[in-house]
Amino acid sequence: MRDISVHVGSLALANPFIAASGCFGYGVEYANALDLSTLGAIAVKGLFLKEREGHPPERVVETPAGMLNAIGLQGIGVHRFISEKLPELRQRRATVIVNICGSTLDEYVELARILSDVEGLAALELNISCPNIKEGGITFGCSLHGTFDVVNAVRKVTPLPVIPKLTPNVTDVASFARAAEDAGADAVSLVNTFLAMAIDVETRRPRLSNIVGGLSGPAIRPIAVRMVYECRRTVKIPIIGMGGIASASDALEFIIAGATAVQVGTANFVDPFIWGKLVSGLRGYMDRHDVARLSDLVGTIDTSSREKQWISS
Ligand SMILES: Cc1cc2nc3c(=O)[nH]c(=O)nc-3n(C[C@H](O)[C@H](O)[C@H](O)COP(=O)(O)O)c2cc1C
Repeated sequence: MRDISVHVGSLALANPFIAASGCFGYGVEYANALDLSTLGAIAVKGLFLKEREGHPPERVVETPAGMLNAIGLQGIGVHRFISEKLPELRQRRATVIVNICGSTLDEYVELARILSDVEGLAALELNISCPNIKEGGITFGCSLHGTFDVVNAVRKVTPLPVIPKLTPNVTDVASFARAAEDAGADAVSLVNTFLAMAIDVETRRPRLSNIVGGLSGPAIRPIAVRMVYECRRTVKIPIIGMGGIASASDALEFIIAGATAVQVGTANFVDPFIWGKLVSGLRGYMDRHDVARLSDLVGTIDTSSREKQWISS
């Protein structure tokens, strides 16, 4: 029997596959199509204290091997999430990670306080990396002090695992993982989307109403894998990896690079039934390679022969 359960710090997951924030609604939208308890966890759409409308259309553009979005964190706000969505998520026995976003440090703290008083949440993911809003969020995630301060402040007010979500839109992502670790994060998740843009050459207008947006999907995967690898070499806390995962083999790249668990976003839009395929693909790999426990694979990349080649050339 293969053991595909993983522990991200104190957070126990039945399998490593987490629905990425913003790509799986509040989870309940899929409840009639999928058994939500079979997912490793669900990271719900990013929540502010209050409801937000987000940006006007166009908010999504297809790109080669990916998609560009500038939703602008449309959402129902934390109070409606707790009263309207959470009861069903609990009833469906989903493992729920709440993704939170603030315009100010105090808003993150307030959100963390409110959510810590609620039953049935597994962890808080701090979105300090959304490229599609002007205030807050990524401003913290692009500054080492900002990252440290948000994590440190939230850490002090919640017993829930705290998982800051890092932006790839920095030169040295590993130093941000270290700042998060120093501030008391239980894990880090990475990556959020890459700042990008697309232009309609006929009209010479940007394709997105927000002009710029965030790139996700297979196009970003090799960069995201490299970033997970760099973070694994820098911090001791667990890493949740994501960026363009669309198969078990893609997920294994992240796990072998050093991720304990992975998130799947854009691929869910292409195939909402991907979850069962990911699990069976992973089990097939573990059978072929005689791996008893998935956790034994984490960070097992062997670079020794490549390093020798590189030095001798
Ligand atoms: C339409 C859309 C909405 C997103 N909304 C959020 C969000 O609310 N909070 C967040 O932290 N990340 C958000 N993300 C980023 C994803 O969670 C994920 O980090 C990114 O898309 C890379 O993974 P993928 O290539 O598997 O999609 C969003 C991504 C997309 C495509």
